[in-house]
Amino acid sequence: MKIPTKNRCVLLGVCGGIAAYKACEVVRLLVKAGVDVHVLMTPNATRFVSPLTFAALSGYPVAVEAFPPSASEAGSSSTYDPLAHITLSHQAELLLLAPATANTLAKLAAGIADNLLLSTALAFSGPVVFAPAMNSRMYANPATRDNIAKLKARGCIEVEAEMGALASLESGMGRLAEPARIVQRVLHELRREGSPLEGRRILVTAGGTREYFDDIRFISNASTGTLALCCADELYLAGAEVELIAAPSVAEDELASRAYPTIRVTSAEEMLTQVRERAIGLDVLLMLAAVADYRPPRRKGKIKKDDAVELDLRLTRTEDILSSLEEGKPNVRIGASLETEEVEQRAAAKLTAKNLSAIVAVELDPEAPPFGQRSLRAGILTPHEWLLPLSRRDKIELSREIAHLITRLLNPKEQ
Ligand SMILES: Cc1cc2nc3c(=O)[nH]c(=O)nc-3n(C[C@H](O)[C@H](O)[C@H](O)COP(=O)(O)O)c2cc1C
Repeated sequence: MKIPTKNRCVLLGVCGGIAAYKACEVVRLLVKAGVDVHVLMTPNATRFVSPLTFAALSGYPVAVEAFPPSASEAGSSSTYDPLAHITLSHQAELLLLAPATANTLAKLAAGIADNLLLSTALAFSGPVVFAPAMNSRMYANPATRDNIAKLKARGCIEVEAEMGALASLESGMGRLAEPARIVQRVLHELRREGSPLEGRRILVTAGGTREYFDDIRFISNASTGTLALCCADELYLAGAEVELIAAPSVAEDELASRAYPTIRVTSAEEMLTQVRERAIGLDVLLMLAAVADYRPPRRKGKIKKDDAVELDLRLTRTEDILSSLEEGKPNVRIGASLETEEVEQRAAAKLTAKNLSAIVAVELDPEAPPFGQRSLRAGILTPHEWLLPLSRRDKIELSREIAHLITRLLNPKEQ
């Protein structure tokens, strides 16, 4: 049984408000989470941000015009399609309006369709999420309040504006919600109900741990947790109850837009404690973190440079997390191995030694190290076969394969 991956497509309608530039960050975060974003702009929105910016960030042309451009407008970076409002409304799973201006909200509430964005919204039958942004008095105006209430009564979902500094140099209510909060809400709405992963508890570990040898310095590795985040996103969108344990090398802003719980740890020991605490009742453990195999002793304070010419750090083995868990808890355990040579043999040995359901084998190509990159050279090995042979792969594509594998392992009868 495969998780349907088609149609993870969001239509982002950008309106003509000062916060239009923040929609760029919304696009960036959604694309990172594996979502296809198609941007629509009101003609007024193009006075704030160029369609070209959104085209570059989303990878798709930006639709603005409902009517063909006049000769004097030829050469604009937006594209023209006479049926764009219908095509786009069929294509997408969700319509997001961010920022939503007072004007567009009023027109939407009244069913007015005098631009491409509004026509598309009227033709759209899926979930609509809107994030208002405007001056605090516009926001508090009874007309705006009524329009927002009307839209919510019709099932549209509001990502409420926030208190804070506004463009008018005033402070008040009406500031666009943080892009990460908007993205969290969108991802939550995109989650699939009735998926074979619904209700399954999956723990994913990400990033490189830090092993301090004084209060300032530490030993770590180059992992950034990119593949683990892609997998956690994929599994969350497929309906699983995901939790992510993130080591320090996973950037804070990477975690902010995630809609599932994230737990921070520093060292291998802390990672072990957190995994153990969550192992009971867990369906899947996906260990993609680069956990330190060795740790130095930690000294208090800062080791002084002039104490000695050489510094001896006697490293001791850390406890292996997967091997230390009780047999069958959880039943599905997937690990990872990164090697520079004998990649297949070493991955196979690790799979057997740790009694894993599968292993993600990664080959370090010194010419193109995978850390923080979109692609890596990897394959998936199960006890029976190389499910995916070693090859250069996009991390989002690989994470989809891992999610399919997990679905099959959890639902063996349905294969
Ligand atoms: C500099 C500037 C900033 C604006 N910022 C906002 C805003 O943040 N929110 C809003 O609702 N309207 C704002 N407006 C007013 C809208 O641009 C105006 O209502 C316009 O008709 C909205 O068009 P649209 O909803 O079709 O994009 C702003 C106008 C200007 C000139």
